[in-house]
Formats: sequence, structure tokens, C-alpha cells
Amino acid sequence: MQLSPVLAELDQYPFVRLDSWRTEARQQGIDVIDFGVGDPREPTPTFIRDALVAGISDISSYPRAAGLPELRDAIGAWIAGRYGVTVDATRELVPTLGSKEAIFSFANVALGERRVVAVPEPGYPVYERGALFAGAEVVTIPLREDHGWLPDLDAFDAWDELAVFWTCYPNNPTGVTAPLSFYEELAGRAQEHGFVLCSDEAYSELWFGTPPTSALQVADRENVVVFNTLSKRSSMTGYRSGFVCAPPAIADALRAFRPSVGTAPQEFVQRASAAAWSDEAHVDAVREVYARKRATLLPALTAAGFRDAGGDATFFLWLAVDGSSETAARQLLEHGVLAAPGAFFGPAGEGYLRFALVPTQAECERAATIIREVFA
Ligand SMILES: Cc1ncc(COP(=O)(O)O)c(C=O)c1O
Repeated sequence: MQLSPVLAELDQYPFVRLDSWRTEARQQGIDVIDFGVGDPREPTPTFIRDALVAGISDISSYPRAAGLPELRDAIGAWIAGRYGVTVDATRELVPTLGSKEAIFSFANVALGERRVVAVPEPGYPVYERGALFAGAEVVTIPLREDHGWLPDLDAFDAWDELAVFWTCYPNNPTGVTAPLSFYEELAGRAQEHGFVLCSDEAYSELWFGTPPTSALQVADRENVVVFNTLSKRSSMTGYRSGFVCAPPAIADALRAFRPSVGTAPQEFVQRASAAAWSDEAHVDAVREVYARKRATLLPALTAAGFRDAGGDATFFLWLAVDGSSETAARQLLEHGVLAAPGAFFGPAGEGYLRFALVPTQAECERAATIIREVFA
């Protein structure tokens, strides 16, 4: 029996090693503070949980791919308020089960005669995995510090072969944001060369300077598809709720494709999500929580000789280290602080460490003390 070769490849995925490192360290009696995987552990605001419960109806029927009008309207109103952009909530918005599944499966609707998908590296692995499972050819676009962690568009020359070009700003893992001119440039190329620009904006609301721009703000959104989610903004990872905003032809394709996969969110989750997109106070509060953790850990790391090489958004810190990122991560772990080696996100991440600010404030303070005591 032969199973998917793509699955066999995934076994080699370096990130699974973080789990075994953590387990080994705990077996050695080390009390590990885990900044490795970016799963937020902040409580979901009460009004959202209440809306979920109130949203359960007597009869449970299959949710439709188009989603509930009240959710689409809430997302449309959020986009208008946040970016000053008007979208057609019925034709352009499709609710998703978090953004991961939508990112993963996008290649299934986007690949035609063209089979090439461009993905950033270092980066979130799902762009590549989804493309590979869909049978695409993947090209990686390196992001480098001396280019502000933005892709060097002039260094790429296969635009006419592309089906999809993925971007992610605010960026996981580096925390940098992209200027509107970057999206304008890419959206222009997408139109000129006939590919789809996919912009993963999962961290759009976790910012500590000025609010980041969105690819939704380009003058012509014809070839632009944006993915966003409540996971980080509203601490709702477990609810699985996000959206795709796409030109009508692509949104139609998604509405045709998605019922086969069964990826419409549960209606009670959609009702809770409408409440979440309609409130900004809890998002302000979440930003404050992460800002405090950032202000606790980042100065300790820089005092200890790590160089801040990242941006001012997302809940990630991205620090340059001397030598191998894996060695640096191992050294930290001996003292109970687990960070992800940049090399785990791709070769261009070598020489950096990523800290996800997901442990509690108290744990961040404890980690800062350890780092100052041991490394400064
Ligand atoms: C860059 C990026 N995009 C998308 C996601 C998907 O988030 P979700 O499926 O919870 O919406 C994540 C989650 O960690 C992420 O880091």
C-alpha cells in the first residue's frame, strides 16, 4: 500500500522536534516556559462565550458555505471601520473554519494550467503544505533582514508561471509589517501576470506601533484574496472562525468548492463570531496584554546579547543570535526557556530565534529573570 508521499515528507518537519525537546527537558526535571508554539492561551471574552451559547438553536442543520448574513455583515462592517474599504458582504466574503483550512485548501481552487505557488521562507508552513497536497510546484521566496523581511520582488522572474503568490504581514515569524506600496506593487504584478495574490493577515490586530495596512486597501482588488481570523484578535483559536475576502469570481469558486470539504463553520460559532467582529474594546485589551509581555521579555533578551531583528507587530519576538539557532535554543532550554530556532521556519531563518508571547505575564517575568541572570 502506498500512502501520500507528501505525508511521508511531513514526518521530517522540524517543528515536531520542539515537542520532543520540551518532553525531554521536563523528564530531566526542568520547569519549561514554552515560547515555542504560537497558540494563545488568553481567555475568550465573556460576551463572546455568551453569544456562542445564545447562538445554539433547537434544530441543528448543516451550515451553508455562504455563511450567515449577520456574520458577513459584521465582517463587512469591520473591514469598513478598520480599513475604510467597502466590500460586498454577500459576493466577496466567505466565512472559514479559522484561516488555516482556507489557506491549506486554496490551491485546490486556484490551480489551473499554472501549477506554481510561491511561498515565503521563513514562514508559516501551511501555504506550502496545502500547495503540495494539491499537486502544485512550490517555489520559496526568501525573506531577509537586509530587505526588511519583505520578498525581493526584483529577484524573482517567473511571474508568468505563477498561480498564487503568498504573503503574510504582520509576519509570522519576524513580526514586521508591510507598507501599502508593497501590496500595490504585488497587486499590480498579479493583474499584469494573471496570478492571485494571497495575503494572510492573521496577525493584523496585534500591533504595537501604528495599525498595519491590509492588501484590502489596494486601489484595485481584482486579483487579491485576503485571509483573516478571530484566533489571535479575539483569543478564539478553539472556535475556528475566520474569513476570506475575495473578488466575486474567486469567492464563487470557494462557495462551489467548500461544500465538498464540509468547511462551513457551525452556525452558533458564526453568531459568536459576529459579536466578536463587532467589538473593538476586547481587542484593545488583548493588545495591552501582549504589549506588556513584550515590554517584559524583549529588554531582558537584548540585555542578554540577543539582537532584536523583528518588527513591532504580532505576538512574536524575532531575535538574532550568534551562530546556530538550534544551539542557542538548546542553551536557553537548559535553563527552562523554550524558543523556536529560526531554522525550523526555513533556511533563511537560520541565525534567529522566535519567541511566541503566549505564556502568562508571570511566566514572562520569570523567563526575563532567568535570561538576565544566566545570559546577561
Ligand atoms: C501566519 C499564520 N496564518 C494563519 C494561521 C491560522 O490561524 P487560524 O487557523 O487559527 O485562523 C496562523 C496560526 O498560527 C498563523 O501563524
